[in-house]
Amino acid sequence: MTRVFSGIKPTGSVHLGNLLGALRNWVAMQDEADTVYCVVDLHALTVPHDPEELRAATLSLTQLLVASGLDPERCTLFVQGHVREHAECAWVMECTAAFGELRRMTQFKDKSESNDFVSGGLFTYPALQAADILLYDTDQVPVGEDQRQHIELTRDIAMRFNSRYGETFVVPEAIIPPTGARVMDLQHPENKMSKSDDGAQGTILLLDDPAAIEKKFKRAVTDSGNEVCYDPVDKPGVSNLLSILGAATGRSPEAAADGLERYGDLKAATAEAVVELLRPVQARYHELAADPAETSRLLEIGADKAREVAAATFDRVRSNLGLLGR
Ligand code: TYM
Repeated sequence: MTRVFSGIKPTGSVHLGNLLGALRNWVAMQDEADTVYCVVDLHALTVPHDPEELRAATLSLTQLLVASGLDPERCTLFVQGHVREHAECAWVMECTAAFGELRRMTQFKDKSESNDFVSGGLFTYPALQAADILLYDTDQVPVGEDQRQHIELTRDIAMRFNSRYGETFVVPEAIIPPTGARVMDLQHPENKMSKSDDGAQGTILLLDDPAAIEKKFKRAVTDSGNEVCYDPVDKPGVSNLLSILGAATGRSPEAAADGLERYGDLKAATAEAVVELLRPVQARYHELAADPAETSRLLEIGADKAREVAAATFDRVRSNLGLLGR
């Protein structure tokens, strides 16, 4: 059976880009593959953080993932820090990745420019991500467009390791959805929608109430002219709304433009589709949030399942590397 792995960071609030670019695919793949999904708390340590906030965010993100449709009976859902092999294997990945490869990662370049304190972990972050993926003999990694480069690096690391030390890792491929893979900011459609713009008018959060969602779409930046058509180069704002509307209603962005005459109609239709998409997710989230002990119980089961696979892979890694057994 195909093995699927993906992860999401418990930093900032989950937004529409995370849902359309990744989570919806995660949910759909539960029916056709052996799926493993991870709340990557160790990745949240690459920037200075508040410990209480991290603890709360890890639990609440797990609840939001379940509310979005992940079913712990059908997938393995766990927290990265509960499985020690991730950190241990990350060191092996750091020693397999080239310095130049890590330096070329665009996310590192972007984030190191905007942060005052740049940790070593921010630089080696893609090596930890490679460990996450390779520990599970992963065939497919469902992600948004912004993770493509990290998955390419993971493939290169896996192939290099296999050729140096013998067949050890499965070489994974990225699975990127045809629509919604790169949801842009509603105020700055040249930038992707992002968690770090929390609270900003350009980001739709999964827990925004309907009034907030309608307001944000109403204020969304559109382009000159007045024709509703999909043209990402000349009409980035309108095209982003069409992508969101298409992804939310299961159509291509071009098809979503059908019957829409004015920008105002497009904004209203997109807001309505997103409100309807999020309504059941929000209702389920509020039920789950009332019972944190149940979430912790689910995470313990998930960690046990994940650990079993990760430990077996890492034993193989240790042995092939020539690390002395006990
Ligand atoms: P993170 O937490 O930033 O994002 C989680 C997922 O959401 C996707 N995404 C988007 N998709 C479309 N439009 C957007 N504006 C948008 N913003 C985010 C991301 O592509 C991602 O799929 N490094 C990863 C977490 C990670 C991981 C892994 C992923 C750690 N280990 C192993 C896959 C496999 C990250 O920071 O995602």
